[in-house]
Amino acid sequence: MLTPQWLDALRARITLSAVIGRSVRLQKAGREFRACCPFHDEKSPSFYVNDAKGFYHCFGCQAHGDAIRWLTDHQGLAFMDAVKELAAEAGMEVPAPDPRAAKQAEKRAGLTDVTEAAQAWFVDRLRSADGAEARAYLQRRRISDATAREFGFGFAPDERQAMKTALARFDEALLVEAGMRIAPKDGGKEHYDRFRGRLMLPIHNARGQVIAFGGRTLAKDVAKTGGGAKYLNSPDTPLFDKGRTLYNLHRAAPAARKSGRIVVVEGYMDVIALAQAGIAEAVAPMGTALTEHQLELLWRQVERPILCFDGDAAGQRAALKAIARALPLLRPGHTLGIVRLPAGLDPDDLVRQHGAKAMEALLDNPQPLADALWQFEQAATPLATPEDKAGLKARLLEHVETIQHPDIRVLYRRELLERFSAFAFPPRPQREWKPGQRRADLPQRSAPEITAKLQRLAQGGARDAFAAAVIAGLARHPDEISRHEEALVELARSDPNVAPAIDALIAVSESLDSRGGSPISAPIGLPALPDRNHYAFLHEGTSPDQAREDLAEAVSLLVERPALEAALAAATLRFEHDPEGSIAEQGRLRERMLSLDARLKRFGRRKAAAHGSREH
Ligand code: UTP
Ligand code: MN
Repeated sequence: MLTPQWLDALRARITLSAVIGRSVRLQKAGREFRACCPFHDEKSPSFYVNDAKGFYHCFGCQAHGDAIRWLTDHQGLAFMDAVKELAAEAGMEVPAPDPRAAKQAEKRAGLTDVTEAAQAWFVDRLRSADGAEARAYLQRRRISDATAREFGFGFAPDERQAMKTALARFDEALLVEAGMRIAPKDGGKEHYDRFRGRLMLPIHNARGQVIAFGGRTLAKDVAKTGGGAKYLNSPDTPLFDKGRTLYNLHRAAPAARKSGRIVVVEGYMDVIALAQAGIAEAVAPMGTALTEHQLELLWRQVERPILCFDGDAAGQRAALKAIARALPLLRPGHTLGIVRLPAGLDPDDLVRQHGAKAMEALLDNPQPLADALWQFEQAATPLATPEDKAGLKARLLEHVETIQHPDIRVLYRRELLERFSAFAFPPRPQREWKPGQRRADLPQRSAPEITAKLQRLAQGGARDAFAAAVIAGLARHPDEISRHEEALVELARSDPNVAPAIDALIAVSESLDSRGGSPISAPIGLPALPDRNHYAFLHEGTSPDQAREDLAEAVSLLVERPALEAALAAATLRFEHDPEGSIAEQGRLRERMLSLDARLKRFGRRKAAAHGSREH
């Protein structure tokens, strides 16, 4: 039994840098070692190994762990194998395993004996006279003999007791536990074979052992087969956990490490068709949406797994589901690429009809996750009315809020809001005006005018003061004004207090020479804002990038509340026509309101921190 104390003793006797140094060139850096991170692609080293603490850490991709973790995550060993290897190195005896765990391992070993034997029998049946129809089916689908052998195609005869007879050396209970036989619920009737009259495909674990099966009906027209589903899979067993398994991972992983690419498709047959066309790095979930475990498995192979979806509505829904699942897990160096196939074609159809080149071309150009999220959400519902559009915005922001990584969250928010603004507020036709020229027909709007408007605004309530600070910040960083123009116009529309200052700000930005860039405030000075020092973007010393980030967050905070309030009002209005929908929508919007408040608090805390650091 491995106790935490024993594991600590093991770690203490291992020099981590020596273990890692076998596969990574480490440079001494003070008390630590440094290297380019072996878990992600980088040019300057951000991977550190600390022997005193016994941990490695990458500041780029957050890879982190001890010697055991190194051997499991980098070298691909199973946990116990890693422990054994390290113990041998440290001259320590691995304690006898816990009898219960040992029993379970033994049981699993017994079960793989069953599944491996079943696999051998299915393959044998495919070659027998019984297998003629299945062989013809493979031929019709143009699956070569070599591919059929590589992927272990087999055949389950259409009988209820054939497997029982063939695998008579195993107990009935074991056959049931391995998912191969079915025990009737009422207990009375006879047990029977699960897979009957199907083309069989073995499913392997990462070590390449057969742990489960998928069986495809041989009926040409699946809709007419009545009871039988197109694919029947093994149930979850002690060997097989659908949500933690990816079909073909044991072959795709080594190929992915070579090519730096891994592709997720929907079906078994897609994986096989791609492999036959020379694309070996494809995996598939087992007929369900991708789970977090499966995503993490993919990210262990490459930084940006590619997900393929059918171009039809069902594919779109599946894509959105997968994206929503991935958002909370995003971290630097962990993203997804999205490929949309022509509607109605799965990868199998595509390579058959248009060749591997067509597939390669699609895989060469995956869509970034944020792009795909925007497009799928935008296409998900009609967007005819202001309420529809506000709904889209609320949904986008709901997605953003699920992102755990703070930098990625801020960047997604900005990117999605920019797209939303460009879509919801397309530029109005502008009067003839050339850069560098003053507008003749406008009263000369000038910096002093902003100052005056701001002064009035800053004397209002807390929200107005916040708005005043943001507008002053934009005046200091005029290059940022146009980026936020649509959001600001929206704000001016919904809030008469801030409208005059925003109008003045935008007018000044429009009259800026295209060289732009110098702070508007410089010649005139800004009004004394009550807590001016609290905002990083009002400081002299703040870097432009930092100011840009903070301004983006501040503008979006400022704009979101009125937008949410409008969406809430719209949902309330809809109550009469659609009480259920309206209540659900109101609930969602209220939750968004709460998380907006949390963001405001976070922003406030950062503000306070910036203020504090200036006073020291
Ligand atoms: P599809 O219906 O798209 O099948 O299901 P496919 O891969 O194109 O298969 P062919 O080309 O008709 O043979 C995709 C995946 O969904 C799961 C299977 O894992 C399948 O590979 N599925 C589908 C089931 O589990 N049961 C079903 O009845 C159908
Ligand atoms: Mn298909």
